[in-house]
Amino acid sequence: MIFLWKIILYEIPKEFHSYESAKQIHINTMEAAGMVVSSEGREADVLVLSERVELGTIIRIDDLYGIVAYMSYREDEKIGSTQALIARVQIFGRLDNGRLVRLKRPVKPHSDVFLADENELEEMLSAEENISIGTVRGTNARAFLNPNEYDRHMAILASTGAGKSYTAANLVKEFSSLGLPVVIVDTHGEYPKLLSKLTEGTEIQIETYTVKHGKQGYKEFKIPVSSLEPEDFHHFTFLTEPQGSALGLVLDKLGEDYQLKDIIDGCSKLNDKTIHEGTIKALERKLRTLDRTFKNIFDKYGTDIKKLVQPYNITIIDASSSPQGVRQSVVSYIAKELLQGRIREYNEMPDPIEHSMLFVVEEAHNYAGSNLSHSCKYQLQRIASEGRKFDVGLCVISQKPSKIDEEILSQCNTGIYMHITNPNDKDHIRKSFESINDEIIKDLDGLDVGECIIAGAMNRIPFIICNVDRIDVKGEKTGKFNYKREEEIKVGGFDYV
Ligand SMILES: Nc1ncnc2c1ncn2[C@@H]1O[C@H](COP(=O)(O)OP(=O)(O)OP(=O)(O)O)[C@@H](O)[C@H]1O
Ligand SMILES: [Mg+2]
Repeated sequence: MIFLWKIILYEIPKEFHSYESAKQIHINTMEAAGMVVSSEGREADVLVLSERVELGTIIRIDDLYGIVAYMSYREDEKIGSTQALIARVQIFGRLDNGRLVRLKRPVKPHSDVFLADENELEEMLSAEENISIGTVRGTNARAFLNPNEYDRHMAILASTGAGKSYTAANLVKEFSSLGLPVVIVDTHGEYPKLLSKLTEGTEIQIETYTVKHGKQGYKEFKIPVSSLEPEDFHHFTFLTEPQGSALGLVLDKLGEDYQLKDIIDGCSKLNDKTIHEGTIKALERKLRTLDRTFKNIFDKYGTDIKKLVQPYNITIIDASSSPQGVRQSVVSYIAKELLQGRIREYNEMPDPIEHSMLFVVEEAHNYAGSNLSHSCKYQLQRIASEGRKFDVGLCVISQKPSKIDEEILSQCNTGIYMHITNPNDKDHIRKSFESINDEIIKDLDGLDVGECIIAGAMNRIPFIICNVDRIDVKGEKTGKFNYKREEEIKVGGFDYV
């Protein structure tokens, strides 16, 4: 196929051998924004004739559409030093009854190039069901995405402060408007504010659970000790094999409902010759540590994870006031319960989670780090690789893409990239995503706050540059140095401060 494309490579026609002469001719025609100077396969080089053409601009050539993926000034051999601005355009196809039909042959050189208008853009990007988190950069057209691909997972990657959380909040609101249940692990406690603003006046319900330390008005997330299997304790601590079997024996001797304290008491009462005394003592010590670390989190019955997954419902697990180790355990536990609940539904087993869902993990490098050995990484890997079969979508958000496990990133078929400068991060993104090419990577440092490049499964064209909708959150800091001097108050001739 590639070979055929090469054979039908067009050359610049003789009459346009100089960019300057081409410019002259086209200056007098309609409002062409450029002219094709050469094309090969799905790519065309376009001489730029309009200020409005920039990286990410979507253009039309005859009935074909393409996107400017790269721009450079090139020397024109014929006229010496004059430099011409050339746009490398990726042509993606023609519109046929609202469907995009892929390009079958290269575009003809010296064709006029026009900017796609708003209607064309929206028609090209939309399908039966659409969501949108912003506008196509430089236009008022909504940047529609295909929500049906949520279960092929998403990654929102950018340097700190680029607008990841605002983007994720917009995305969550859009999925939730279609009814998809969403569960978010919020490391900074910022989603309640963002999402209540975005969902004002809608039917979407937001429920926030705090972890470890309560906050007024929010529920507390609890883990039900009574329903934990011995292997579930791996979410919270490392147990050797003998310690695991000793725990199994202790749990067998307890009745239906018990607390962690009852398990600890059960250790000292365990009288089983097959278990070494040292093993029991070590297990007891580990459980005592758990009791301290997970104070207020372990509970007899705990939060029913099934009930968190409801249509038109967003559940925020605000883990901002708990230590890192606790957060990792909570992510591990929730991730496993969500996937297992869906597997039970598929296998018609009791206690299923009936609805498909989106699981959003902020600061994902803390839970899916390539060097991390915590079980939370393994649970996220499972959702990334098996979630699609059971309608569980994963959205990872991170400011340190290079620290995230490659296996997880490579399963994220939609990439939302914002401002990134770190070369390691760029390299890691290049290696992990099939849908991203070098041109997109080069442009990542040129993005402003709130701008993103969206590429992959949810996007119907190779990539799009999007201005994410702003969220007007009350009380947002406008400056960093809003200090005031304490005023001096003079009373009865004495100075008080
Ligand atoms: N779409 C947007 N349009 C305009 N301004 C935005 C947009 N998104 C974010 N901002 C501004 O950028 C600030 C940082 O955004 P946000 O908190 O989403 O960044 P972040 O990448 O999540 O940062 P962090 O790495 O700290 O989590 C916001 O407080 C807001 O002022
Ligand atoms: Mg953030």
